[in-house]
Amino acid sequence: MTDPKKLFVKTYGCQMNVYDSERMAEALGAQGYVTTDVVEEADMVLLNTCHIREKASEKLYSDLGRLRGLKVAKPDLKVGVAGCVAQAEGEEILRRSPVVDLVVGPQAYHRLPEMVAAGGRQIDTDFPAEDKFTQLPARKALRGPAAFLTVQEGCDKFCAFCVVPYTRGTEVSRPVDRLLDEARGLVAQGVREITLLGQNVNAYHGAGSGGSWGLARLLRELAQIEGLERLRYTTSHPNDMEDDLIAAHGDLPQLMPYLHLPVQSGSDRILKAMNRKHSADQYLRLIERIRAARPDILLSSDFIVGFPGETDADFQATLDLIRAVGFGQAFSFKYSARPGTPAAEKPPVAAEIADARLQELQALITSQQRAAQVAMVGREVTVLYEKPGRLPGQMVGKSDHLHAVHVTDPEGRIGQLARVRVLSSSSNSLAAQMVSRLA
Ligand code: 5AD
Ligand code: SF4
Repeated sequence: MTDPKKLFVKTYGCQMNVYDSERMAEALGAQGYVTTDVVEEADMVLLNTCHIREKASEKLYSDLGRLRGLKVAKPDLKVGVAGCVAQAEGEEILRRSPVVDLVVGPQAYHRLPEMVAAGGRQIDTDFPAEDKFTQLPARKALRGPAAFLTVQEGCDKFCAFCVVPYTRGTEVSRPVDRLLDEARGLVAQGVREITLLGQNVNAYHGAGSGGSWGLARLLRELAQIEGLERLRYTTSHPNDMEDDLIAAHGDLPQLMPYLHLPVQSGSDRILKAMNRKHSADQYLRLIERIRAARPDILLSSDFIVGFPGETDADFQATLDLIRAVGFGQAFSFKYSARPGTPAAEKPPVAAEIADARLQELQALITSQQRAAQVAMVGREVTVLYEKPGRLPGQMVGKSDHLHAVHVTDPEGRIGQLARVRVLSSSSNSLAAQMVSRLA
């Protein structure tokens, strides 16, 4: 018997890419590929790229440059470029980089095995009508008790800075039945927590019995699955937080008290220029309603500083919004002009100014994050053990509020839920002592 062919996958960017990489690896598994973490051993290298911010294509070409030597040593090595840079640059990648054999856009992954089998240099960046996931083999390779499930892809919002509507295409929701089947399959394999993924997940509107289902209805149905203890979803747009979804945060015990709800800016002028279609005040009132439904919810957001035209007053308005909300954590980025987006046409804010604003904003967020963690000290929280910790007798997992928790529990096993007492807070995690195991 010959050794199986080896596949090395490098994933850049978001959780959706992580999910897609797993599915591509499984699809190629059907062709005899097993994954490896050692690039030198690989018969095929797949770079699953991200185009959302700066230097994505520079990073790709420098990685491709580094693969040149390997390809000389192993002429049969296949190199594939997937993801949003593949979509955005297409043919250009084949032209610029002779090491590349395959270019495959995010909507064409189901064709990957075919493309590999056909041999030669190939490109597919089409947006087919069918659900790419139905063409891929059923999920099997599982890494732990917490899994992701892509329910929706693409975005119709066209925020002025963002490439997603161009690279991932317009919104497509997967049908309810397929998602329920996939979720049941995951639970049968030991999964106890599922995070529903989508670029605009709360705009979900999948075909279900009796018509189109929204995200709240999908969550309620998933909550019926025996053994599925925890549900989360990300990423959401404020304008799609419908009443029934807010209500679900109040009455669905499986829906965890954590919400990532990007606002990007606290200035109405900038929000308008960003084409966000909501004001700072509307966001604040929305947060009030969400907190009324689930008072202990931890909120997270994304911020962009240095958007074209952002003045000091605009930036102060963003800081004011952050102070008014009090976030449990947040991601913040310096604006980066993405070719082809409307904002890229406008004159940029000076780099030093944007850098200084980013630092100031991050310091504020860090202090809020610390405060949220410190508030947990002394409390009992529930943790799902995901892996052993670095110290002996330790398990690591996430709390309901998505804090990483290191728990002293020598008998703890992966996949168990435990009540633990939080003893201390460090920069990015909590330390705790096991109190009782739930199951
Ligand atoms: N520049 C900087 N940040 C961006 N994001 C999206 N596009 C850009 C851009 N051009 C950020 C937004 C989004 C997150 C995923 O990435 O904050 O919510
Ligand atoms: Fe991009 Fe999100 Fe805006 Fe859609 S809602 S365009 S994914 S930033």
